[in-house]
Amino acid sequence: MKNSIQLLIDRIIAGSEHLTLGINDEKGLEVGFMRPLTTDHLDQPELIQKLTDWRNQNMGNFLTHFLATPERTRNWMKNVLFKTPGQMLLMIYVNDQVVGHFGFKDLAKDDVLLDNAMRGDRLGHPKLMVFAGMALVEWLFRETGVQRIHAYVMADNVASIMMNKQIGFNGWSRHPLISVVKDNETQWKIGAEGTDSPDARYCFNLVLDRNSQ
Ligand SMILES: CC(C)(COP(=O)(O)OP(=O)(O)OC[C@H]1O[C@@H](n2cnc3c(N)ncnc32)[C@H](O)[C@@H]1OP(=O)(O)O)[C@@H](O)C(=O)NCCC(=O)NCCS
Repeated sequence: MKNSIQLLIDRIIAGSEHLTLGINDEKGLEVGFMRPLTTDHLDQPELIQKLTDWRNQNMGNFLTHFLATPERTRNWMKNVLFKTPGQMLLMIYVNDQVVGHFGFKDLAKDDVLLDNAMRGDRLGHPKLMVFAGMALVEWLFRETGVQRIHAYVMADNVASIMMNKQIGFNGWSRHPLISVVKDNETQWKIGAEGTDSPDARYCFNLVLDRNSQ
């Protein structure tokens, strides 16, 4: 039996329910909005091209390294993003122009992973991504029963670390990254806290508790 939040996610992805999250600055003024990717976007090649270009431009900051193509991005949307429970990617808009995205995955009873932050275009408020992250955190705590939200950040990704601090993440643990090459693609696996990375690369696991809000 699917729980009510998964039923809501399914309806949103299928386009039978609409979700728009306003992105507000610290004074409460709207500086943009977020809307989830839905099956309708499978027929929007321009958007798929943007997702593909942004992923390739920022490959080094993600745990899986591969050359994105529009076809691969579309397949990922159709077969992974829209089919894996507990996952959504929300596009970020400023003046109706799409400038980036932010999402979540691995939504479980107690926790969820905030994921896939991307500023593809610098248009809009300098703190747009921080405010977008806050809007998503607020929605997750309001709509789901999770007690905490996690995020993984490469230890050398200063912009993402600064952004996450401002979103409110406060628990930080350092984990080694271990590279695994499969079919010519590098995947970084996350090792146990406190152990060494054979590749001298590390990431932080960040935590944001409902009670610290
Ligand atoms: C992560 C990301 C979404 C953050 O977006 P953003 O908040 O618009 O990023 P900014 O460039 O404003 O940087 C955020 C902060 O880090 C600071 N910063 C960025 N690079 C820095 C550096 N090398 N040294 C010191 N500070 C740095 C910025 O000055 C800013 O600080 P401020 O808010 O106090 O002004 C964006 O950098 C991005 O799309 N990166 C590529 C994808 C990515 O890494 N995603 C995260 C995967 S975990």
